[in-house]
Amino acid sequence: MEFNGKVVLISGATGGMGEEIAKLLSKEGCKLAFFSRREEKLKEISSRLSNDKTKCIFKKCDVKNIEEVKEAVEFTHKNFGRIDVAILTAGVLIPNPIQTFDSKIIKNSMEINFMGTVHFIESLLPIMKSQKSGTIVATSTLPDRRGVPGWGAYGASKAALSWLMESLRVEAKQRYNIDVITVKPGSVKTPMLEGYERHGAIPAKKAAEIIIGGIKKGKKVIQFPLGQVALIRMMDAFPLSAYDSMDIDQQKGDGYPSVEEE
Ligand SMILES: NC(=O)c1ccc[n+]([C@@H]2O[C@H](COP(=O)([O-])OP(=O)(O)OC[C@H]3O[C@@H](n4cnc5c(N)ncnc54)[C@H](OP(=O)(O)O)[C@@H]3O)[C@@H](O)[C@H]2O)c1
Repeated sequence: MEFNGKVVLISGATGGMGEEIAKLLSKEGCKLAFFSRREEKLKEISSRLSNDKTKCIFKKCDVKNIEEVKEAVEFTHKNFGRIDVAILTAGVLIPNPIQTFDSKIIKNSMEINFMGTVHFIESLLPIMKSQKSGTIVATSTLPDRRGVPGWGAYGASKAALSWLMESLRVEAKQRYNIDVITVKPGSVKTPMLEGYERHGAIPAKKAAEIIIGGIKKGKKVIQFPLGQVALIRMMDAFPLSAYDSMDIDQQKGDGYPSVEEE
């Protein structure tokens, strides 16, 4: 797929990967619509990336709020007349250690990472169905198959998302010619990982290049970086006894907040 002339909606456009994706697409001659909660930052990115070839619009949108998401999609459609690609990156990473296990953290993670994406998909589908074309790209995570100690809230929201996207992919294509793509990043240096040491983390710009390159090639699943893909998929195949004997602190990763024992 070529991006030139396409209308592209980006959620989480103020984030590490979202902004880098926006930067790359601003060189491709797209019509870009940016959404997230920080309006000032959206405004700054829009004015910086607008150029002769690229028109940018933006609107404040909390993905937890279904009405705001509907307005975001309508705003894009009204301004540009169609929506070719939606790149949904909005997300949060909140640890939930067993010592302070908290359903509010799980609810919030589900509402942003999972339902936030669902809200967009629901609003986008009628437009893309009537166009008989479109591409929906959602951002899950590389470790989306097995639980990771301390990261259950995040992992559950992303595993649910991977499942949903996998389910939608075949019917969306066969019935309406809509492409559904799941992005599964390993560690990427963005504000999300600030304070965490992740070995092999790649720069956000590199991640954006891989994502845009994967969409152009028509990939169904875009997972990276290669070394981490090999490691995580190998761990997916570990028998339970081997998986359960791994050191908990190593699994949680460097920088995981220490928690007082109750
Ligand atoms: N970095 C990694 O290593 C990594 C690995 C695997 C998967 N991912 C996933 O990749 C995606 C992008 O992550 P990133 O690393 O670029 O994170 P980031 O720099 O923290 O950016 C997150 C983005 O999500 C937006 N956001 C958060 N809550 C929102 C809400 N309620 N409504 C609307 N927007 C919201 C933020 O904007 P506002 O604060 O302005 O609302 C920001 O633009 C996320 O889905 C993340 O889970 C990241």
